Amino acid sequence: MPVPKTFILPSSHRPPDTDENSFRNMKFPFDWEKMFKTIGFPAYMKPHDGGGWKSVYRVESPEDLWAKHGETENLVMMLQEEINFTEYFRCYVLDTDKVHIMQYEPRNPHHLRYVLDGDPVDKKILDLVEDYCIRLNKALGYDFNTVEFAIRDGIPYAIDFCNPAPDADVNSVGRENFDWIVENAADMAIGKAKKYKKGQMNLTWGSFVTDQIAAPKAPKKKGAVKTAVSKKTPIKKATATNARVKKASAKTATETAVSPKVAVKKAAAKQAVTKKMDTKKTTATKVAKKKAPAKKAATNAKTAKK
Ligand SMILES: Nc1ncnc2c1ncn2[C@@H]1O[C@H](COP(=O)(O)OP(=O)(O)O)[C@@H](O)[C@H]1O
Ligand SMILES: [Mg+2]
Repeated sequence: MPVPKTFILPSSHRPPDTDENSFRNMKFPFDWEKMFKTIGFPAYMKPHDGGGWKSVYRVESPEDLWAKHGETENLVMMLQEEINFTEYFRCYVLDTDKVHIMQYEPRNPHHLRYVLDGDPVDKKILDLVEDYCIRLNKALGYDFNTVEFAIRDGIPYAIDFCNPAPDADVNSVGRENFDWIVENAADMAIGKAKKYKKGQMNLTWGSFVTDQIAAPKAPKKKGAVKTAVSKKTPIKKATATNARVKKASAKTATETAVSPKVAVKKAAAKQAVTKKMDTKKTTATKVAKKKAPAKKAATNAKTAKK
């Protein structure tokens, strides 16, 4: 998923309940130069968990950034590459996969931002936007969200995707968008009410959460992890030694209890054994996975430019 290049900045004021001994893990002086080179100017500086355009700044230079950063008190700000866009979309996403794309012009005055009779947009871009909306929401697990994309060189960059209480005022979104969200949100609510099972876990989670507790996927290369497991735990022995498997399952009990969907005994046992054998490897894979999207974004951008 393409996202703008982004750094997280330390807050201007120290958070409450911390003192000069806190944050000793942070390295100073901060490498501002490296950040400025990577992000460029003008850039956006905005809270990592903001909303409603509050404390969103467009900064022109390091001095401008530091002056504005000084106003942000305890907020944890992100410094983000500006996406110079040709189109911008706000998309309602319901039940993780029902998408309504709205053309938006954030550079217009507030009451004219939803473009109600804009030029037709390339279907390829709309398809990509819809696909990214679904991917994001399946990962985040939102039932109700608004996702924003800025399009540069035909590539949609995800700008803002955590809006579980988005604008749905008929006076700003317009009649057509308003009717869509009312109708479809009502349908979703009715559907959920009908599916509700008393006494059961009716909550759902995004894959961002469930993937953390599900059995790790088999490694691509036949090898490392599996070999390590089978070397120390011959297959026959592992199947026969129920006690061992049970012990292993118990280890992941807390995790699997969170989501009954992933409480597959076999998987839990495998996960526990893998965990026991190769904790370091698992951690490394997770870190690598986290880094991947940014790299992918860069690759995507390059490919599409061609
Ligand atoms: N990286 C960016 N590039 C270009 N415009 C941006 C960028 N980040 C934010 N903006 C502009 O600022 C507006 C508000 O930022 P956003 O991240 O949506 O914050 P909020 O969560 O407060 O709505 C966006 O709608 C967009 O117009
Ligand atoms: Mg926004």
